[in-house]
Amino acid sequence: MLRLLHKATAVAGLLLLANNSIFAYELDVQSTDSIKNVAQQLAADLVSMYNGNQPGQTPGLLPQPYYWWEAGALMGALIDYWYYTGDTTYNDITQQGLLHQVGPYNDFMPPNQTLTEGNDDQGFWGMAAMSAAEYNFQNPAEDKPQWLALAQAVFNTQAARWDTQHCNGGLRWQIFTWNNGFNYKNSISQACFFNLASRLALYTGNSTYADWAVRTWDWMTGVGFIDNAYRVYDGATVEQNCADITPYEFSYNVGAFLLGAAAMAEYSNKAGETNDVALWHERVDGLLNNTELIFFFGDDDNDKVMIEIACEPVSLCDVDQQSFKAYLSRWMAATTKWAPWTFDRIKKLLQNSARAAVKQCTGGDNGRMCGLKWANNSGEWDGTTGVGQQMAAMEVVLANMIEEAKQPVTNGTGGTSVGDPAAGGNDNGRVDPVKWQHGPITDGDRAGAAFVTFVVLTTLLAALVFMFADEMKTAGENWDNFRSTVSPQPGIRGAETAPPPPPT
Ligand SMILES: *[C@@H]1O[C@H](CO)[C@@H](O)[C@H](O)[C@H]1NC(C)=O
Ligand SMILES: *[C@@H]1O[C@H](CO)[C@@H](O)[C@H](O)[C@H]1NC(C)=O
Ligand SMILES: *[C@@H]1O[C@H](CO)[C@@H](O)[C@H](O)[C@H]1NC(C)=O
Ligand SMILES: *[C@@H]1O[C@H](CO)[C@@H](O)[C@H](O)[C@H]1NC(C)=O
Ligand SMILES: *[C@@H]1O[C@H](CO)[C@@H](O)[C@H](O)[C@H]1NC(C)=O
Repeated sequence: MLRLLHKATAVAGLLLLANNSIFAYELDVQSTDSIKNVAQQLAADLVSMYNGNQPGQTPGLLPQPYYWWEAGALMGALIDYWYYTGDTTYNDITQQGLLHQVGPYNDFMPPNQTLTEGNDDQGFWGMAAMSAAEYNFQNPAEDKPQWLALAQAVFNTQAARWDTQHCNGGLRWQIFTWNNGFNYKNSISQACFFNLASRLALYTGNSTYADWAVRTWDWMTGVGFIDNAYRVYDGATVEQNCADITPYEFSYNVGAFLLGAAAMAEYSNKAGETNDVALWHERVDGLLNNTELIFFFGDDDNDKVMIEIACEPVSLCDVDQQSFKAYLSRWMAATTKWAPWTFDRIKKLLQNSARAAVKQCTGGDNGRMCGLKWANNSGEWDGTTGVGQQMAAMEVVLANMIEEAKQPVTNGTGGTSVGDPAAGGNDNGRVDPVKWQHGPITDGDRAGAAFVTFVVLTTLLAALVFMFADEMKTAGENWDNFRSTVSPQPGIRGAETAPPPPPT
């Protein structure tokens, strides 16, 4: 379950003194060899935090405090590592991790995760499988689930959850009725679904997927989660008919829509639908405009660097949020393959960001673990390390090789993954966990989940108060910038922007 500003305080407290390490990455973003060398070390340090392949461990899980979804995101990052570098070192553990988490119906709904699994969590695993199909990643044995079919299963189970009873459509955040957050419709759940639907449309040529991508986009703009300036806000509750929009903007939302819009432009292009090409072209541009405006910090194009603006400047990014720049980097780079007119603009932004990112990689015991704050600092390590930071640095460095990377395949252009349009059918419409391995759901489980949500909301509220208090002290252009990120209107108060407590 992705959470807002959870564990933020723990991160803020983790300011260690940087040792006077002599290590520093020397990255030449113009040189393939340099990029590969740096990425190889970043990948090794990233994988050192994963032990799912070791005896007695569970493949596809990261240790505490990382949630299940982030391991799926990590599998996607390791597929990227191979795609860019050709280095197969991690292919087998990646395949093992993905296949171990497919669940009894081969749709990434393993019973161990049903206590917390949301549509967005499932979506991250589905998008990793989609990348495996698009890049022709090594196919599993014939008797095992196949990448394309897994992506289709995630799509099918989610399409069946599309909820027209509330807010006229959209996916709820949570899959299971009894999970807290079931009353919230969030942008990242729609973003993952849209991303997957548009890529499946392009890969298979099946217009049903494209119809769902269009439906999702139209719903997002209709309900105002995407506004006229292509800002993508966090979400809203069904009780308020999705009118109580939480005005945070996170980079993975706009990133997932950006790549999906690029896939729809390419799909329309192949289908010869010129009006649709123009429409999606404009949407790609609008989303990219917003991406650059909100999620890049700097005075001009020559020094703009990626930033998770809603939490990074105030050192309140939680464990989830520390990884978001990985996905924005991944999806911006991939966008250039289907929306080639974006190449020069995206390349410049990724170059600046990669240079700044590796300057943060001078921390941890080995003196080369990466911190979070690439933008707007002296380059000195910020005192944090983690899977998110390491994955983000690796992805942004790899992204600088995008022009040398192969065009993603489709079913008609060399794709070899075997699909199943009806995949996931056994789970369609299921809103309660089955095959729960730890006994029936008890009141204790429900109370536990309610408590977790309470803590999350309280932390969120505290963070807002903190941010706004800090804002008053630190007047200036940067903070105006930041405030416009968290609030579409001037003068909004923090307390009004937090989602209301869930029903108990
Ligand atoms: C579920 O949990 C059990 C017990 O911890 C473990 O043995 C199993 O591998 C887990 N399955 C998955 C798919 O994570
Ligand atoms: C994106 O920004 C450019 C430059 O400011 C502008 O000309 C263009 O109209 C914008 N595109 C969209 C779709 O908003
Ligand atoms: C940029 O750095 C300055 C100086 O440390 C700080 O006051 C400002 O808040 C920072 N802005 C952002 C958006 O990080
Ligand atoms: C994908 O390609 C294979 C082999 O060319 C073909 O048999 C299959 O029908 C195609 N599937 C779709 C959905 O087009
Ligand atoms: C296209 O996708 C839809 C939705 O999954 C599926 O029902 C249909 O069978 C697919 N059509 C073909 C020709 O594969």
